Amino acid sequence: MIADIKAAPGGSFILLHGCAHNPTGIDPTPEQWGVIADVIQEKNHIPFFDIAYQGFASGSLDTDAASVRMFVARGMEVIAAQSYSKNLGLYAERIGAINVVCSSPEAAARVKSQLKRIARPMYSNPPVHGARIVANIVGDSALFKEWNAEMEMMAGRIKNVRHKLFDSLSSKDKSGKDWSFVLKQIGMFSFTGLNKAQCDNMTNKWHVYMTKDGRISLAGLSLAKCEYLADAIIDSYHNVS
Ligand SMILES: Cc1ncc(COP(=O)(O)O)c(C=O)c1O
Repeated sequence: MIADIKAAPGGSFILLHGCAHNPTGIDPTPEQWGVIADVIQEKNHIPFFDIAYQGFASGSLDTDAASVRMFVARGMEVIAAQSYSKNLGLYAERIGAINVVCSSPEAAARVKSQLKRIARPMYSNPPVHGARIVANIVGDSALFKEWNAEMEMMAGRIKNVRHKLFDSLSSKDKSGKDWSFVLKQIGMFSFTGLNKAQCDNMTNKWHVYMTKDGRISLAGLSLAKCEYLADAIIDSYHNVS
Protein backbone atom coordinates (compact mmCIF):
# COMPACT_ATOMS: atom_id res chain seq x y z
CA MET A 1 0.00 0.00 0.00
CA ILE A 2 2.79 2.39 0.96
CA ALA A 3 4.69 1.54 -2.25
CA ASP A 4 1.59 2.31 -4.32
CA ILE A 5 0.91 5.60 -2.52
CA LYS A 6 4.55 6.57 -3.11
CA ALA A 7 4.34 5.60 -6.79
CA ALA A 8 1.16 7.62 -7.48
CA PRO A 9 1.73 11.00 -9.23
CA GLY A 10 2.04 13.85 -6.69
CA GLY A 11 -1.29 15.48 -5.81
CA SER A 12 -3.34 12.31 -6.31
CA PHE A 13 -6.49 11.60 -4.37
CA ILE A 14 -5.89 8.63 -2.08
CA LEU A 15 -9.04 6.75 -1.10
CA LEU A 16 -8.86 5.40 2.45
CA HIS A 17 -11.39 3.64 4.64
CA GLY A 18 -11.47 5.53 7.95
CA CYS A 19 -12.35 2.45 9.99
CA ALA A 20 -13.54 -1.15 9.61
CA HIS A 21 -12.15 -1.68 6.11
CA ASN A 22 -14.57 -3.31 3.69
CA PRO A 23 -14.07 -6.07 2.63
CA THR A 24 -11.01 -7.16 4.62
CA GLY A 25 -11.87 -6.01 8.16
CA ILE A 26 -8.19 -5.12 8.51
CA ASP A 27 -7.44 -1.58 9.71
CA PRO A 28 -4.01 0.05 9.97
CA THR A 29 -2.71 0.43 13.53
CA PRO A 30 -2.32 4.03 14.80
CA GLU A 31 1.42 3.77 14.00
CA GLN A 32 0.67 2.55 10.46
CA TRP A 33 -1.81 5.43 9.98
CA GLY A 34 1.10 7.72 10.90
CA VAL A 35 3.28 6.20 8.17
CA ILE A 36 0.43 6.48 5.63
CA ALA A 37 -0.07 10.15 6.58
CA ASP A 38 3.71 10.80 6.24
CA VAL A 39 3.77 9.47 2.68
CA ILE A 40 0.57 11.30 1.68
CA GLN A 41 1.99 14.53 3.07
CA GLU A 42 5.37 14.03 1.35
CA LYS A 43 3.67 13.51 -2.02
CA ASN A 44 1.14 16.32 -1.56
CA HIS A 45 -1.66 13.84 -2.06
CA ILE A 46 -5.20 14.54 -0.89
CA PRO A 47 -6.65 11.95 1.50
CA PHE A 48 -10.26 11.05 0.71
CA PHE A 49 -11.83 9.10 3.56
CA ASP A 50 -14.74 6.77 2.92
CA ILE A 51 -16.36 6.16 6.32
CA ALA A 52 -19.36 3.87 6.51
CA TYR A 53 -18.92 2.41 10.00
CA GLN A 54 -18.14 5.22 12.45
CA GLY A 55 -19.12 3.96 15.90
CA PHE A 56 -20.09 0.59 14.48
CA ALA A 57 -16.52 -0.77 14.46
CA SER A 58 -15.20 -0.16 17.98
CA GLY A 59 -18.47 0.96 19.58
CA SER A 60 -17.11 4.51 20.00
CA LEU A 61 -17.61 7.40 17.56
CA ASP A 62 -14.36 8.98 18.76
CA THR A 63 -12.19 5.85 18.45
CA ASP A 64 -13.47 5.20 14.93
CA ALA A 65 -12.80 8.83 13.91
CA ALA A 66 -9.18 8.75 15.13
CA SER A 67 -7.65 8.17 11.68
CA VAL A 68 -9.39 11.16 10.10
CA ARG A 69 -8.68 13.39 13.10
CA MET A 70 -4.99 12.49 12.96
CA PHE A 71 -4.76 13.74 9.36
CA VAL A 72 -6.70 16.92 10.22
CA ALA A 73 -4.46 17.55 13.28
CA ARG A 74 -1.45 17.54 10.93
CA GLY A 75 -3.01 20.50 9.10
CA MET A 76 -3.78 18.52 5.96
CA GLU A 77 -6.68 19.20 3.63
CA VAL A 78 -8.99 16.22 4.01
CA ILE A 79 -12.17 15.01 2.37
CA ALA A 80 -14.43 12.72 4.40
CA ALA A 81 -17.49 11.05 2.91
CA GLN A 82 -19.67 9.47 5.58
CA SER A 83 -22.56 7.07 5.26
CA TYR A 84 -25.25 6.73 7.91
CA SER A 85 -26.70 3.55 6.40
CA LYS A 86 -25.15 1.26 9.00
CA ASN A 87 -24.53 3.32 12.10
CA LEU A 88 -28.03 4.80 12.05
CA GLY A 89 -29.76 1.86 10.39
CA LEU A 90 -30.91 4.13 7.56
CA TYR A 91 -30.19 1.82 4.65
CA ALA A 92 -32.95 2.89 2.31
CA GLU A 93 -32.67 6.63 2.81
CA ARG A 94 -29.37 7.16 0.93
CA ILE A 95 -28.15 9.40 3.72
CA GLY A 96 -24.58 10.52 4.17
CA ALA A 97 -22.49 13.65 4.39
CA ILE A 98 -19.40 15.01 2.74
CA ASN A 99 -17.05 17.16 4.79
CA VAL A 100 -14.07 18.94 3.29
CA VAL A 101 -11.41 20.41 5.55
CA CYS A 102 -9.77 23.26 3.64
CA SER A 103 -6.62 25.28 4.27
CA SER A 104 -8.29 28.71 4.01
CA PRO A 105 -11.74 30.34 3.73
CA GLU A 106 -10.94 31.09 0.06
CA ALA A 107 -10.22 27.40 -0.64
CA ALA A 108 -13.44 26.47 1.19
CA ALA A 109 -15.48 28.82 -1.01
CA ARG A 110 -13.94 27.29 -4.15
CA VAL A 111 -14.60 23.74 -2.94
CA LYS A 112 -18.20 24.59 -2.03
CA SER A 113 -18.91 26.06 -5.44
CA GLN A 114 -17.41 22.99 -7.14
CA LEU A 115 -19.46 20.61 -4.97
CA LYS A 116 -22.62 22.53 -5.88
CA ARG A 117 -21.59 22.41 -9.54
CA ILE A 118 -21.40 18.60 -9.31
CA ALA A 119 -24.56 18.13 -7.23
CA ARG A 120 -26.89 20.48 -9.11
CA PRO A 121 -26.82 18.77 -12.52
CA MET A 122 -26.49 15.29 -11.00
CA TYR A 123 -29.35 15.14 -8.52
CA SER A 124 -30.17 18.76 -7.72
CA ASN A 125 -31.51 18.35 -4.19
CA PRO A 126 -30.95 15.14 -2.25
CA PRO A 127 -33.88 13.48 -0.44
CA VAL A 128 -34.30 15.21 2.91
CA HIS A 129 -36.20 12.72 5.05
CA GLY A 130 -33.17 10.69 6.21
CA ALA A 131 -31.16 13.86 6.80
CA ARG A 132 -33.88 15.20 9.11
CA ILE A 133 -33.86 11.94 11.09
CA VAL A 134 -30.08 12.21 11.52
CA ALA A 135 -30.32 15.91 12.44
CA ASN A 136 -32.94 15.08 15.08
CA ILE A 137 -30.79 12.39 16.64
CA VAL A 138 -27.44 14.18 16.66
CA GLY A 139 -29.06 17.48 17.67
CA ASP A 140 -30.78 16.14 20.78
CA SER A 141 -28.52 15.17 23.69
CA ALA A 142 -30.83 12.43 25.02
CA LEU A 143 -31.30 10.83 21.58
CA PHE A 144 -27.59 11.19 20.83
CA LYS A 145 -26.76 9.34 24.06
CA GLU A 146 -29.29 6.62 23.31
CA TRP A 147 -27.90 6.20 19.78
CA ASN A 148 -24.33 5.90 21.13
CA ALA A 149 -25.41 3.24 23.63
CA GLU A 150 -27.24 1.24 20.95
CA MET A 151 -24.24 1.45 18.64
CA GLU A 152 -21.95 0.22 21.42
CA MET A 153 -24.33 -2.69 21.95
CA MET A 154 -24.35 -3.56 18.23
CA ALA A 155 -20.55 -3.34 17.98
CA GLY A 156 -20.31 -5.52 21.12
CA ARG A 157 -22.63 -8.11 19.61
CA ILE A 158 -20.46 -8.34 16.50
CA LYS A 159 -17.32 -8.66 18.67
CA ASN A 160 -18.97 -11.50 20.65
CA VAL A 161 -19.82 -13.30 17.40
CA ARG A 162 -16.22 -12.83 16.26
CA HIS A 163 -14.90 -14.40 19.48
CA LYS A 164 -17.37 -17.28 19.33
CA LEU A 165 -16.47 -18.00 15.69
CA PHE A 166 -12.76 -17.95 16.55
CA ASP A 167 -13.31 -20.28 19.54
CA SER A 168 -15.40 -22.66 17.39
CA LEU A 169 -12.80 -22.72 14.58
CA SER A 170 -9.90 -23.22 17.01
CA SER A 171 -11.52 -26.00 19.01
CA LYS A 172 -12.97 -27.92 16.03
CA ASP A 173 -10.00 -27.67 13.65
CA LYS A 174 -7.38 -30.21 14.71
CA SER A 175 -4.89 -29.23 11.98
CA GLY A 176 -3.19 -26.56 14.08
CA LYS A 177 -4.13 -23.77 11.69
CA ASP A 178 -3.94 -20.34 13.29
CA TRP A 179 -7.40 -18.70 13.05
CA SER A 180 -6.47 -15.64 15.13
CA PHE A 181 -6.85 -13.39 12.07
CA VAL A 182 -10.60 -13.55 12.75
CA LEU A 183 -9.98 -11.73 16.05
CA LYS A 184 -7.59 -9.19 14.57
CA GLN A 185 -10.17 -8.02 12.04
CA ILE A 186 -12.71 -5.36 13.00
CA GLY A 187 -16.18 -4.28 11.92
CA MET A 188 -18.97 -6.09 10.16
CA PHE A 189 -16.80 -8.23 7.93
CA SER A 190 -14.33 -11.06 8.09
CA PHE A 191 -12.14 -12.10 5.21
CA THR A 192 -12.03 -15.87 5.69
CA GLY A 193 -9.25 -16.53 3.18
CA LEU A 194 -11.48 -19.02 1.32
CA ASN A 195 -10.99 -19.05 -2.45
CA LYS A 196 -13.81 -19.16 -5.01
CA ALA A 197 -14.03 -22.98 -5.16
CA GLN A 198 -14.12 -23.12 -1.36
CA CYS A 199 -16.83 -20.40 -1.28
CA ASP A 200 -18.84 -22.47 -3.78
CA ASN A 201 -18.56 -25.43 -1.39
CA MET A 202 -19.82 -23.20 1.45
CA THR A 203 -22.90 -22.40 -0.59
CA ASN A 204 -23.57 -25.67 -2.43
CA LYS A 205 -22.90 -28.05 0.44
CA TRP A 206 -23.55 -25.96 3.57
CA HIS A 207 -25.99 -23.32 2.27
CA VAL A 208 -23.83 -20.50 3.55
CA TYR A 209 -24.23 -17.52 1.22
CA MET A 210 -21.24 -15.21 1.00
CA THR A 211 -19.34 -13.14 -1.55
CA LYS A 212 -16.98 -15.18 -3.72
CA ASP A 213 -13.93 -13.26 -2.50
CA GLY A 214 -14.29 -15.06 0.85
CA ARG A 215 -15.95 -12.22 2.78
CA ILE A 216 -18.60 -12.99 5.37
CA SER A 217 -20.77 -10.49 7.22
CA LEU A 218 -20.63 -11.08 10.96
CA ALA A 219 -23.61 -8.75 11.41
CA GLY A 220 -25.71 -11.45 9.77
CA LEU A 221 -24.44 -14.20 12.08
CA SER A 222 -25.95 -15.25 15.43
CA LEU A 223 -24.02 -16.88 18.28
CA ALA A 224 -26.12 -20.00 17.78
CA LYS A 225 -24.92 -20.41 14.19
CA CYS A 226 -21.17 -19.97 14.84
CA GLU A 227 -20.46 -23.68 15.32
CA TYR A 228 -22.26 -24.58 12.08
CA LEU A 229 -20.34 -21.88 10.23
CA ALA A 230 -17.05 -23.12 11.71
CA ASP A 231 -17.82 -26.67 10.49
CA ALA A 232 -18.56 -25.30 7.02
CA ILE A 233 -15.37 -23.20 6.90
CA ILE A 234 -13.15 -26.05 8.16
CA ASP A 235 -14.62 -28.50 5.66
CA SER A 236 -14.26 -26.04 2.76
CA TYR A 237 -10.76 -25.00 3.78
CA HIS A 238 -9.32 -28.50 4.18
CA ASN A 239 -11.30 -30.56 1.67
CA VAL A 240 -11.56 -28.22 -1.33
CA SER A 241 -8.57 -26.69 -3.09
C1 LIG B 1 -16.61 1.73 2.97
C2 LIG B 1 -18.02 1.83 2.49
N1 LIG B 1 -18.47 3.00 1.97
C3 LIG B 1 -19.76 3.13 1.57
C4 LIG B 1 -20.64 2.09 1.66
C5 LIG B 1 -22.05 2.31 1.17
O1 LIG B 1 -22.67 3.32 1.83
P1 LIG B 1 -24.18 3.76 1.43
O2 LIG B 1 -25.10 2.71 1.99
O3 LIG B 1 -24.38 5.09 2.07
O4 LIG B 1 -24.23 3.80 -0.06
C6 LIG B 1 -20.21 0.85 2.18
C7 LIG B 1 -21.06 -0.35 2.31
O5 LIG B 1 -22.09 -0.54 1.85
C8 LIG B 1 -18.88 0.73 2.59
O6 LIG B 1 -18.41 -0.42 3.11
